[in-house]
Amino acid sequence: MTPTGIIGERRVNDPVTIVIFGASGDLTHRKLIPALYIAYAQDLLPEKFTIVGFARRDYDDAIYRGMLSDSIKKFSRLPVEDETVDRFIQHIRYHKGDISTMEAYAELKEKFKDTEAYPENHLFYLSIIPSLFKTAVQSLKESGLVADPAADQWTRVIIEKPFGRDMESALALNSALLQYLDESQIYRIDHYLGKETVQNILSFRFANAIFEPVFNRSYVDHIQITASETVGMEMGRGGYYDEYGAVRDMVTNHILQLLCLVTMEPPGDLSADAIRNEKVKVLNAAKLDIHENISDAVCRGQYGEGTDAEGNTTKGYLKEDRIHPESTTETYAAMRLSIDNWRWAGVPILLRTGKAMAKKTTEIAVQFKVPPLQLFQQVECDDDVCDLTHIRPNTLIFQIQPNEGIFLKVGTKRPGMRFVVEDVKMDFSYSGTWSKSLPEAYERLLLDTLHGDSTLFTRSDEVEAEWRVVQPIFDNQDQLKPFPYPPNAWGVEEADWLFHGVEGQWRNT
Ligand code: BG6
Repeated sequence: MTPTGIIGERRVNDPVTIVIFGASGDLTHRKLIPALYIAYAQDLLPEKFTIVGFARRDYDDAIYRGMLSDSIKKFSRLPVEDETVDRFIQHIRYHKGDISTMEAYAELKEKFKDTEAYPENHLFYLSIIPSLFKTAVQSLKESGLVADPAADQWTRVIIEKPFGRDMESALALNSALLQYLDESQIYRIDHYLGKETVQNILSFRFANAIFEPVFNRSYVDHIQITASETVGMEMGRGGYYDEYGAVRDMVTNHILQLLCLVTMEPPGDLSADAIRNEKVKVLNAAKLDIHENISDAVCRGQYGEGTDAEGNTTKGYLKEDRIHPESTTETYAAMRLSIDNWRWAGVPILLRTGKAMAKKTTEIAVQFKVPPLQLFQQVECDDDVCDLTHIRPNTLIFQIQPNEGIFLKVGTKRPGMRFVVEDVKMDFSYSGTWSKSLPEAYERLLLDTLHGDSTLFTRSDEVEAEWRVVQPIFDNQDQLKPFPYPPNAWGVEEADWLFHGVEGQWRNT
């Protein structure tokens, strides 16, 4: 009956009421409710829990339960059983209300008097537009729905990115949140940190003694991080995206988090603060590698019209729904950073992300230096045509998604009479090692919040440090007109220039 997937997890003990603001939204249907269902089916939720969907639409409990039951069946990563879904949805209730009116909170507070139906620990999930974060948190506080952080019953609030749109607004948002909540009550979600492969970066680095000694400027030539997507503007996304763009949407959170994990110093222990302190330190040492102009270090792009595999014309960004026809928002961004600390000084760090690219892939490639003496030649073949070249450097690849795994490219002697070397891949893949499907990021992150573990959530100083790294891009936007690029390709050619002086190029594999 119980789907298998997570092994040896702890069940949450504290009875809880989980209130989802934005209960009719896509995230709730696709991710949050299926994730909570899987936790329930695996016996990981507490014995007593209630989920309240808070939204404006005119639903009631029965209608809302029916809709969520369909979503679970459609989006669950594991097979579902009708009987388990039926039991799960009995824990769900609907609360009709407008987030911006105090009345809705007063009514919620009134319902909460029935502590049997609504357990007194409260998790509020703000799956709403960022401009409403402050209103929601202020209203929760003023309605008496936020417990004292020292009280026996807890209040936790999850907020979804974007946490601001530049340094100034991020500071304003943090101070608004901290006016009504204690930092320990705020869980800023970055779903990349919930990905199994992302967490494995720390285990790989700090549980294996053989790699850490070479993870530094003496051995590493450069690091490149790619998060490319094939999709353009998914339905209804245009309005949000046009206001934010690739840097704000992907770099200031997901990509900089990947950078932190791969470059931070080992924490003293695995506590949330020890890990986050190290992340903040490395972010504070990171900066765009600008020599004279911002364009030394940053390249922006915007996808144009193209043709898909069937030969049909696909829309350019400017023709997508809810995009300003003269928009200069970037759908691609590439940049070069340096990290000014003892370990990484002088090692170029190259980051890129984009929509409508050739392939959906997220990877971190750590490229090592070539051996000091060229004793061998290397054979490189493209189908049947082979060439002799110089030895290629070793590369360690953290393949975050898809084909999750870790790969090391090494040179080995090619069988035969001559001493030539060919690159081969030593690999560890999740699918070849374990038969179970990987948990979804939201499964892990929701359970962590219920356990009160904030390790995989971003602290306010971390968010501010992330914005500081990219702020020069916004300050000098006029010097960074986006270059057009064709869809289904690897982005902007001009971004190749960011590799100047580096033994390498973008891994367009
Ligand atoms: C989201 C961004 O945070 O991450 C989206 O807003 C992006 O634009 C998505 O598509 C990518 O997430 P994943 O898990 O598919 O790599």
